[in-house]
Amino acid sequence: MVATARAAANIAFVKYWGNRCPALNLPANSSISLTLSNCTAVTTVAVDGSLNEDVVYYGTSLANDAVTARVRRFLGAVRQRARREEKARVQTSNNFPVGCGIASSAAGFAALALAASRAYGLLLDTQELSCLARLGSGSACRSVLGGFVEWVAGTSHETSCARQLADHDHWPELRDIVVIVSKAPKEQSSSEGHALAPTSPLYEARLAYLGAVLETTRRAIATRDLRLLGEVLEPEAFCLHAIAMTTSRPVLYWTPETVDVLRRVFEWRRQGLEAYCTLDAGPNVHIITVAEVAAELVPRLRAHGYNELIVDRPGPGAQLLSQPPPQ
Ligand code: DP6
Repeated sequence: MVATARAAANIAFVKYWGNRCPALNLPANSSISLTLSNCTAVTTVAVDGSLNEDVVYYGTSLANDAVTARVRRFLGAVRQRARREEKARVQTSNNFPVGCGIASSAAGFAALALAASRAYGLLLDTQELSCLARLGSGSACRSVLGGFVEWVAGTSHETSCARQLADHDHWPELRDIVVIVSKAPKEQSSSEGHALAPTSPLYEARLAYLGAVLETTRRAIATRDLRLLGEVLEPEAFCLHAIAMTTSRPVLYWTPETVDVLRRVFEWRRQGLEAYCTLDAGPNVHIITVAEVAAELVPRLRAHGYNELIVDRPGPGAQLLSQPPPQ
């Protein structure tokens, strides 16, 4: 049986950083994100009884050992639920650079969860699919849904999943300009970052402050209030980076170009262009703004030599592109 699915990356306004249970990717805090329109992964899963092991292709080449091991672990969880044993051939491709602070694993595992569950004959509802995707990559549980999404931290596998706050048509003029300043692999993976986070003296303070941040973010989304959203999302991202910089194995994800982009956005904001910055665990800057301001910012960024830009808008959740015929 063969199924193909597409899912998009998401950008978190309130970020997941730190685990309550690493084995199940149960997060220490709830998070809120926007599912993007342009940064997508397409994944095909073909169940094949003649295979001794799962085979994983990234584009037309075999995936590296680390990716293959992660996908095999995930398919093991799908097979367990489907009570099936046959192995599968997986082919995945992204239309954006991987491993550099754009949630490539979120898009990849959301697409894989949908394609693999169908290929193995599981018909999951959105909540079950979100829980399943979370086992592959925490943030993938949010990419199962479109638009504005909250991952409710929960306390168990069944209760830790995403719910939609508003669909992608709710705030169509919102934009995320991804400024790619580096495509180098991350210095420290998110999994390492989650594990190290509690060693930062700032970690408990962040968890305590997130309650109000989540509440304000929900309100800003409901009322489409960019200023309110920006005034919480920017310090929240810096807070995560402050934690990464102060653990027992500190990491500074920023490059000089990261700082340059941040300073320019601050300056343009002082000039009246309303735009706010957020960064995942990497050097690339996501500028959250509206279409009209994005049209002003893109040429300014290019004029300063930032030519690798992806402009995203709110996008839909994971979708099946093809599925096995009904049994
Ligand atoms: C900083 O554990 O979901 O992007 O290692 O790519 O699977 P992967 O990431 P994950 O951590 C994401 C961390 C974050 C914040 C967020 O997206 O909430």
